[in-house]
Amino acid sequence: MTDKPTILVSRKLPDAVESRLSRDYLALLNPQDRQYTTAELLDKSAAADVLLICHTEHLNAEVIGRLPGRVRAIVNFSVGVDHVDLAAAAARGLVVTNTPDVLTDATAEIAMLCMLGAARRASEGERLIRSGTWNTWSPAFMVGTQVSGKRLGIVGMGRVGQVTARRARGFDMQVHYYNRNRLLPELEKGAIFHATLDDLLPRCDFLSLHCPATPQTRNLLDAHRIGQLPEGAIVVNTARGAIVDETALLEALRGGRLAAAGLDVYCDEPHINPAFAALDNTFLLPHIGSATRETRDAMGFRALDNLDAILAGAAPPDRVV
Ligand code: DGY
Repeated sequence: MTDKPTILVSRKLPDAVESRLSRDYLALLNPQDRQYTTAELLDKSAAADVLLICHTEHLNAEVIGRLPGRVRAIVNFSVGVDHVDLAAAAARGLVVTNTPDVLTDATAEIAMLCMLGAARRASEGERLIRSGTWNTWSPAFMVGTQVSGKRLGIVGMGRVGQVTARRARGFDMQVHYYNRNRLLPELEKGAIFHATLDDLLPRCDFLSLHCPATPQTRNLLDAHRIGQLPEGAIVVNTARGAIVDETALLEALRGGRLAAAGLDVYCDEPHINPAFAALDNTFLLPHIGSATRETRDAMGFRALDNLDAILAGAAPPDRVV
């Protein structure tokens, strides 16, 4: 018997994070890293005081309504919280936390990778080499779009948006942005603010999405807005798939209205629409924005700091609800 609080951990976490967790709590770990069904998650929650979950666990209002009364908090190993119905959690009196800041650099790296990969046809080039079918070079071979010096539009100039802007300046890109509020000049660093998407979109050779998925941002990039981008623009999404109307995006990629897209996130992960992979002008990654050893450790420790505070009766540093 132990009087330590019980923490249900939905996925395999970095070793150092699991060590600290098991030192301080009764941790119900998932060493096989198998994704639990909702029924399994609810079943395992029966013994838990806190759930430590990732964005792969979808806690909608119905699931939250069925959580055992013993569960006090949902501690997320993620900055995004769109997988949790926050209103339902609040109504149940659950504390919800996330892990901001620590994945900013890693995600901005992936945004740059998607930008470069899409613009310079990296997937196509890789495929030629790996399939052994590269057999020529000519001035017309594998010609893509230059990134350097182009206009980059950023939607959502929060932490990741700002670091992406900083990295893009290294490529001499001119940064434009749309955000609910204009940033202070010291954060803006010369980026050009647009008060509306209508104003921003026609000025983007590249568009990079960095806003959270909310009911307000669902399908934010739809057919109409894609049509406002210059012909041959390139779209990058490292935020959440729900922000993009995927049918409209595919249509624009097929028809050549957009030159390319670099995507790390999709609407129905990991079951992505196979049409994306069938196109040559897509550069596709499997939601790895935060997937570095440094960042995953930092996310875990940040989640544990929140957990410790909640169980000590203190205010968790990253309380969302
Ligand atoms: C996040 O933290 O939101 C990343 O997308 C990984 O879950």
